[in-house]
Amino acid sequence: MAPKAPIHFTKPRSSNCDRHREEEELEAIVEGEEKLSQECKDLILSLPRERGWRTRYLYLFQGFWCQPAEIQAITLLQNHFQATDSDVVVATIPKSGTTWLKGLTFATVNRKSFSPSSKNHPLLHSNPHHLVPFFEYTVYGGLDEAPDLSSLPDPRLFGTHLPFHAMPSSIKNSGCKIIYLCRNPFDTFVSSWIFVDKIKPGSIPSLTLEEAFDLYCKGIIGFGPSWDHMLRYWNESKERPNKVLFLKYEDLKEDTTDQLKRIAEFLGCPFSLEEEDEETGVIDSIIKLCSFEKMKELQVNKSGTFARNFENKHLFRKAEIGDWLNHLSPSMVERLSKLIDEKLAGSGLSFKIS
Ligand code: A3P
Repeated sequence: MAPKAPIHFTKPRSSNCDRHREEEELEAIVEGEEKLSQECKDLILSLPRERGWRTRYLYLFQGFWCQPAEIQAITLLQNHFQATDSDVVVATIPKSGTTWLKGLTFATVNRKSFSPSSKNHPLLHSNPHHLVPFFEYTVYGGLDEAPDLSSLPDPRLFGTHLPFHAMPSSIKNSGCKIIYLCRNPFDTFVSSWIFVDKIKPGSIPSLTLEEAFDLYCKGIIGFGPSWDHMLRYWNESKERPNKVLFLKYEDLKEDTTDQLKRIAEFLGCPFSLEEEDEETGVIDSIIKLCSFEKMKELQVNKSGTFARNFENKHLFRKAEIGDWLNHLSPSMVERLSKLIDEKLAGSGLSFKIS
């Protein structure tokens, strides 16, 4: 069954005078987004909004929460993207290991062209977000016209945080494949809170842990509610296992070899017995190339930047399971545990919480 749309709307405003002031304030914020078309600004002004994490507001667009600039990019994507059967889309919840999965996917799909043990492998010089660009930040981000993607090398690899229901119809209906990754909500929340505080503009006030946690539990986080995001891909992966491969960060950490084999099989490029052999070490080389320890120490990831000038170094923090134990109070754990139990009940999806 499709998850219900979130219901946390901004309260109706009280008086004409208040409303006028709020509308003026909102218009000034949207005006500040100089790359947005007038049509997009008008749309944004009509949407319910709540306090944002790294923008002043998040807007409820097509049933999920997003930032103003993403709305224009998503609209372009939905109206123009033409998927081909060989496309691969890496879809994730933010802070669930996107950078890692993009690296693993790129290295696996391109292993014939770029040996994973080569000293010149693209992943040694480029961040995975550069090699597997996000639809909403890079491919369609900051544009008012759709780019021509027809000359990209085959297979084309893209990344996205979009929920399944908002994917362009050509992605849903073609033979293109989607690899989905999520992570237990406790660690995802903590990772998001710490990340956002590092990359947000100074003009946006920091969220306290308590404020961020309350927003998260209300579903208000980029591309959230997170449980709707996971459930939609989960259900789709059950209905169409050849279309959507559903992965969890915890499983990927626990047995990377096994999960990497699943990825390669799903993408139609399974590892041969020779590649599986420890002596040739292809699987092992891919895992080492994409390991947290290796990636974190690369110059490009220590000093480089990606979309909107985020410093790559912030993408690599601890990469541990269970860091939430160092941050969340017992009452927070109780609230989120109950919420997750309730939201995922009957779906068959669950997370091991240490
Ligand atoms: P922590 O903040 O818990 O350390 P995303 O790539 O979706 O933004 O996710 C970021 C999380 O993945 C961060 O978690 C980060 O440390 C972890 N991460 C980054 N690269 C990784 C890798 N190569 N292997 C495992 N985890 C990685």
